Amino acid sequence: MTRCECFLKARASRLIDAARIPARYACCDLSNFRIQSNPTLASAKLVAEKFIDRYPIERTGLLFEGSIGVGKTHLAVAVLKELILRKGIPCLFYEYRELLKSIQNSYNNEVHTTELSLLRPVFETEVLLLDELGAVKPTDWVWDTVGFILNTRYNDNRTTVITTNLMNEPAMGTGSRSVMRADTLGDRIGERMRSRLHEMCRVVHMEGEDYRQKLRSAR
Ligand SMILES: Nc1ncnc2c1ncn2[C@@H]1O[C@H](COP(=O)(O)OP(=O)(O)O)[C@@H](O)[C@H]1O
Ligand SMILES: [Mg+2]
Repeated sequence: MTRCECFLKARASRLIDAARIPARYACCDLSNFRIQSNPTLASAKLVAEKFIDRYPIERTGLLFEGSIGVGKTHLAVAVLKELILRKGIPCLFYEYRELLKSIQNSYNNEVHTTELSLLRPVFETEVLLLDELGAVKPTDWVWDTVGFILNTRYNDNRTTVITTNLMNEPAMGTGSRSVMRADTLGDRIGERMRSRLHEMCRVVHMEGEDYRQKLRSAR
């Protein structure tokens, strides 16, 4: 017995709504991701396609790293949409900054959400896309919260897809920091969490020009 097509379509449309993909990324698909003879983009797209094909047999997530505007969020959203449309997998998009803000807000008595009710979908969704990991200056609270979320998903064997603009390098610490050096991912989420990420995700490096700027200069 198989489900009728309209049932599957209605389910996919419910899952797309529930995934909270921001409107500006709603049109991001694999089909409109241009590789523009850039080998890192071509290989990132291949890894994404292979990941979609093999899920859920292979549940290791993806960590898209690279500079701003190379298409990390585009590709990560495309992966989420394919998992929903082709495989009916419940997915959730969260921007890192927004997630931390919402958790902090939940401590405010006037907002009637609790930290737990907010975090439950983040823990429980089958595939989480955490966009722009490390985009907030770290405090002990940020380290604890990120550690809590990633460790819970790791322990429950759930898949996390991540994007980051930061260099995926170890923490250099404030002591040895030169004035000009940008923070690394290790600086922002802690070295323990960075190494946990490498167990949870396959690292996909993307480099190239900022796509938006390129479009602007082409015009
Ligand atoms: N290779 C690409 N092909 C098509 N569109 C792209 C590509 N790279 C970026 N874009 C578009 O440029 C904009 C910025 O890309 P985004 O994925 O947000 O970059 P990043 O997350 O790496 O900073 C988005 O509108 C995205 O759809
Ligand atoms: Mg992005």
